[in-house]
Amino acid sequence: MIIGICGSPRKQATEYVLEQALATLREKGYETTLWSVHGKWVDYCTHCDYCLTNKECVVQDDLQELYALLTGAQGIIFASPVYNGGVSAQTKAVMDRMRAVVAADKNFFKGKVGMGIVTGGDRNGGQEFALMQIHTFFIINGMIPVGGGFFGANLGATFWSKDTLDGVKLDEEGFRSLKKTTKRFAEYIERYGVKDGGKQS
Ligand SMILES: Cc1cc2nc3c(=O)[nH]c(=O)nc-3n(C[C@H](O)[C@H](O)[C@H](O)COP(=O)(O)O)c2cc1C
Repeated sequence: MIIGICGSPRKQATEYVLEQALATLREKGYETTLWSVHGKWVDYCTHCDYCLTNKECVVQDDLQELYALLTGAQGIIFASPVYNGGVSAQTKAVMDRMRAVVAADKNFFKGKVGMGIVTGGDRNGGQEFALMQIHTFFIINGMIPVGGGFFGANLGATFWSKDTLDGVKLDEEGFRSLKKTTKRFAEYIERYGVKDGGKQS
């Protein structure tokens, strides 16, 4: 199972390009689920440390369904709009709240493969920094981060939306970076990823 997490509060460019990646992965035979923050209640982590003692998050919001989905995931895609040169606050809140699943199982993310997709309104609006935030999350949590390789997708998939869904659909270079990154993501899941979502570790 591959889980695509969309950190955009809108059903616009970011969700569209994430769905394109998941469609490619379904063609390769993977089951996929797109989980978006759009229309959901996702609180911030408040560092209350309830999870360290109780092995679950004290906040019973919509993130509980994502925790359950991620348990069996071989691969995770974080797709975020670029807000102020980095990932959206919603994306970051999802990342921070993962403290709870790691408190319950320190190997929760170990061996899962991760890729990032970022969408900025500007051509160079902070996409690479946002990707590095996503990869940093992967590295900290023992995941296997992948980019799409040189000549176009070095750190992952980067899009220029000009702030609209129609704009992102015209970004040929962005779709090239998505294709290269998605291809490598699938290769890494086959070669190096955990086969059962990591439950053997
Ligand atoms: C609060 C806010 C901050 C933004 N900051 C940036 C930015 O730093 N760089 C950039 O390229 N675009 C920025 N944008 C534009 C969005 O990244 C762009 O519209 C993107 O397509 C939004 O994703 P969505 O279509 O999925 O909503 C910002 C948008 C908002 C609402």
